[in-house]
Amino acid sequence: MKSYILSAALLLGILTACSNTQDTTDMGKNETIENLKTRRAIRSYQSTVPDKELLEQVLEAGTYAPTGMGRQSPIIIAVTDKAVRDRLSRLNAAVMGSDNDPFYGAPAVLVVLADRSIPTYLYDGSLVMGNLMNAAHALGLGTCWIHRAKEVFDSEEGKALLKEWGIEGDYEGIGNCIIGYPAQEAPQPKPRKADYIHFVE
Ligand SMILES: Cc1cc2nc3c(=O)[nH]c(=O)nc-3n(C[C@H](O)[C@H](O)[C@H](O)COP(=O)(O)O)c2cc1C
Repeated sequence: MKSYILSAALLLGILTACSNTQDTTDMGKNETIENLKTRRAIRSYQSTVPDKELLEQVLEAGTYAPTGMGRQSPIIIAVTDKAVRDRLSRLNAAVMGSDNDPFYGAPAVLVVLADRSIPTYLYDGSLVMGNLMNAAHALGLGTCWIHRAKEVFDSEEGKALLKEWGIEGDYEGIGNCIIGYPAQEAPQPKPRKADYIHFVE
C-alpha cells in the first residue's frame, strides 16, 4: 500500500514538473513570448473608449515595469476625456507644424511622464511604455507609441495642463501610448535585421 501511494505521489510530481516546464521548453508556444512578438503599432481605432476595467489592468501592468533602484520615477496620466484627448492631439500635431490627428483617432491616451531628478527616468518611463503596449495587446487592445510628449509637456500649455491635473515636480514627457479597440488587422512586422543579436560565447 505504502509503495502504491509513493508511486502515485512520484507520478503526480513528474506530471506537475512537466506542466510547469512545458511553456519554457517549447519556446515558440510560450504565451508571453507570442504576445511580445505579435504586438504591432495600431494606427486605426474604433471610437469607443475601452472599458475602464481593461484600462485599469493595462495601467496596473505599467506600474510593474522595473525602474532604476525601484524608485518608480514615472507617472501615467490616463486620458479618456474627449476634449482633453483632442487638446493633447492638437498640441502634439503643433510640434510637427501639422493639423492632422497624430493619435490616429484613438479614443484614449496614456501619457507617461517621468521625474527628471531621477537619473534613470528616461529608461524607467520607456519600460512603462513597453509594459502598457504589451499588456494592452494581451487584452485585445491596440496601442501605438506617439512621440513628442517631451515637447508638449515642456511647452507653457503642457505645463499648465500638468498644473491643472495637480501634478507638481519636474516631469518630462516620455511617450503617449494611444489606446483603443483596433479597427484594423495588425500589420505584418518588418523582418528583423540579420545582425540584431550578437552572441559572445
Ligand atoms: C520612441 C518611439 C517613438 C514613436 N513615435 C511614433 C509616432 O510619433 N507616430 C507613430 O505613428 N508611431 C510612432 N512609433 C511607433 C513605431 O513607428 C513602431 O513601433 C515601429 O514602426 C515598429 O512597428 P511595431 O510597433 O508594429 O513593431 C514610435 C515608436 C517608438 C518606440
